[in-house]
Amino acid sequence: MTASLRSALTLSTERLELRPLTLLDFDKLYAHWSAPEVGRWLFDAQTPTREQVTDELGQSLELFDTLGLAIWGVYAPLGPLIGTCGFLRIPETGEIELLFSLDPEHWGQGYAHEASLAVLDQAFLTAGLDRVVGRCDVPNLASKRLLERLGMTLDKREPIRGIDCFHFSLEAEDYLLGREDA
Ligand SMILES: CC(C)(COP(=O)(O)OP(=O)(O)OC[C@H]1O[C@@H](n2cnc3c(N)ncnc32)[C@H](O)[C@@H]1OP(=O)(O)O)[C@@H](O)C(=O)NCCC(=O)NCCS
Repeated sequence: MTASLRSALTLSTERLELRPLTLLDFDKLYAHWSAPEVGRWLFDAQTPTREQVTDELGQSLELFDTLGLAIWGVYAPLGPLIGTCGFLRIPETGEIELLFSLDPEHWGQGYAHEASLAVLDQAFLTAGLDRVVGRCDVPNLASKRLLERLGMTLDKREPIRGIDCFHFSLEAEDYLLGREDA
């Protein structure tokens, strides 16, 4: 990704800056996703391998090139990477899935909600998507609450690779109506 594209795709919120992840972010990203409290919800209760993180970064860069959205690094202004937020395509269904993660010391301050609104604006207002989905492990209460708070609809409870999961979705129309009312 070129520096000018990265700059064009940088998003700012009241308290955060979101910058597209690139291969240069690999070490920080690997450390963040390898933290047990974070990785257990993202990689089927396992610590990710370096190959998995490389693969997700590659998919993200491809999606930024084609759709203008994928996984952003979440930063406190002038600070280090504190998390990730954005989207990847689910290979089996082609759906665009919302993803988020924060270092545990930053949980509970509304950062994931704030970052998610910024990337959902990008998906619905800029990229013109009609629908995105969200999925979480059933015991992942924080993630479930966040998906609900974002206005997502619970569609079903169905295992993914043997793990009991909730499946949510959000239509552009509903999101944009909710944004107007907020
Ligand atoms: C999920 C995660 C990103 C939430 O981040 P966060 O910044 O703490 O979330 P927010 O502060 O924006 O909170 C969003 C909502 O979730 C609720 N919430 C947060 N943590 C919660 C918890 N442990 N239990 C229940 N609700 C919780 C908040 O109260 C808020 O709802 P409210 O506005 O109705 O009060 C964070 O817990 C995380 O990184 N977890 C590990 C990675 C992960 O699970 N990713 C998702 C995989 S599907």
